[in-house]
Amino acid sequence: MISARFDDLSALEEYLWEYATRGVRLSANAMAWPAFGTSGPMGPAVRTVAPRRIDRQARIIDFHTDRRSPKMVHLETTPRVSWMAFDEELGQQFQFFGAASVHVDDEAADSLWADQAIDDLEFYFKRLAPGTPVDAPESAIDIDSVDEATARANFCVVRTIVDEMIWGHLHEEGEYRARFQWRDGQFEGQWIVP
Ligand SMILES: Cc1cc2nc3c(=O)[nH]c(=O)nc-3n(C[C@H](O)[C@H](O)[C@H](O)COP(=O)(O)O)c2cc1C
Repeated sequence: MISARFDDLSALEEYLWEYATRGVRLSANAMAWPAFGTSGPMGPAVRTVAPRRIDRQARIIDFHTDRRSPKMVHLETTPRVSWMAFDEELGQQFQFFGAASVHVDDEAADSLWADQAIDDLEFYFKRLAPGTPVDAPESAIDIDSVDEATARANFCVVRTIVDEMIWGHLHEEGEYRARFQWRDGQFEGQWIVP
């Protein structure tokens, strides 16, 4: 069966946010574990992270991370970021671009800390910072020696305010692509050559 093609940019814009939100809430698609890109001193750096909160009205994608992790230095120097997910089943690539901010002890960080299941917070009960060399494979998670206040201090939220989205569809009848740019308070959509 040939899959549906989008021909309406407004419906597509709606779909992009709906798709991303479904990924975050239900782990139901490729936006549950997309690649998150920053710019480091050696060039682009990309890693998998799990977006935890999406607010379409505010154009927000939030995830949480360790304040001590190397990506934080990248964000300090270059607070522009990108997200990328490829849904193999649908043949669709999703890219979100935007400005990033780091939230340590404000409402954004407190509310996400309070929302998360303990399994998602155990990563912050780490004796050592992410990236620290160790003699043998280990996580450095140590619930007994790291107290909750320390774990909370290791935790922060990285917020992306999305200002551009690019979506591509490898369709049976021909590939096509669209870009949305935030201008004057709304996303302006445009079909672009893949
Ligand atoms: C499926 C999956 C989900 C992950 N989710 C997160 C996450 O939500 N936050 C995070 O900081 N790291 C997450 N990681 C680990 C990152 O990919 C990365 O290794 C870590 O954040 C250190 O990145 P950095 O050295 O670039 O700072 C995840 C890894 C995988 C494989």
